[in-house]
Amino acid sequence: MRETLEKIKSEALLALSAPDAQIEELRIKYLGKKGELTAVLRGMGKLTPEERPVIGQLANDVRAEIEAKIEELSSAAKAKELENKLKSEKLDVTIPGEKTEIGHFHPLALVQRQLEDIFLGMGYSIVDGPEVELDYYNFQALNIPKDHPARDTQDTFYITENILLRSQTSPVQARVMEKTQPPIKIISPGRVYRSDAVDATHSPLFHQLEGLVIDKGITMGDLKGALEMFAKRMFGESTQIRFRPHHFPFTEPSAEVDVSCFLCGGKGCRFCKGEGWIEILGAGMVHPNVLRNCGIDPEVYSGFAFGLGVERIALLKYHIDDMRLLYENDVRFLNQF
Ligand code: PHE
Repeated sequence: MRETLEKIKSEALLALSAPDAQIEELRIKYLGKKGELTAVLRGMGKLTPEERPVIGQLANDVRAEIEAKIEELSSAAKAKELENKLKSEKLDVTIPGEKTEIGHFHPLALVQRQLEDIFLGMGYSIVDGPEVELDYYNFQALNIPKDHPARDTQDTFYITENILLRSQTSPVQARVMEKTQPPIKIISPGRVYRSDAVDATHSPLFHQLEGLVIDKGITMGDLKGALEMFAKRMFGESTQIRFRPHHFPFTEPSAEVDVSCFLCGGKGCRFCKGEGWIEILGAGMVHPNVLRNCGIDPEVYSGFAFGLGVERIALLKYHIDDMRLLYENDVRFLNQF
């Protein structure tokens, strides 16, 4: 029995020292319930009472020795495993992060937001109107009957006889006045359409911003004050404005409004084509017929309206010489803003 125990011990230790030793399998093979050592201990009953404690002691020593070896191997394996894990999960905090590209506003959106900010600061509220519009609001309510020659300069896309893509933001004036009694103080930015061929200064789709103020006793002086304030906020404190007589069917009197050239200050340069002035918008006192059409009594109320082209302001502000650049979505262009 002694020899069997010694044999089990040396075999077990040898097997455990093999480089590819399957530790758990070997543990079961030698120390498990059906293992070799257990089998030997079962046969202890056959020993003499004198031999029993000696062999028992020896068996315990063999078990302890094999267990110690297994313990040693498995803690080495665990250490190795941890080391591998640490190696494979190593974080190099010095590697530069992956940059996410953050988009930004389109130049037209930038200008529209700036315009909105300026007028919000002056107490205007922003209203919206439909791009698919009735002929009535786009023209008739604005004092432009079916046969009016002003329709020629604002030819647009017709969906039916009476439904069209709005050629200006002015129909929002009529829609607001119909629904609201004065005081009214609104701006309305948005897309407008005209059947124009594309070139450096024309596009069949562009953007306008309409302004409308109606109350008792509103005069041309209020219009001038409002536009002067706007021009200074938009183009700089030293900007001057000038009114040139003009005609719009829905305002009387009407004017085209220029700002002093913000590059040369009015002396004349290439930017303003030697004029010293740059046209930026149309404006006037709301025509009594328009007030009447919209249910507002022109004997009690008066007001002014203005309309400016957002593209035009963007081209001026950012010194862009071709409007098409705004619509081509070329990132080399857009990244500059
Ligand atoms: N709607 C006019 C245009 O598109 C501009 C304008 C608006 C003029 C309001 C006067 C008053 O040309």
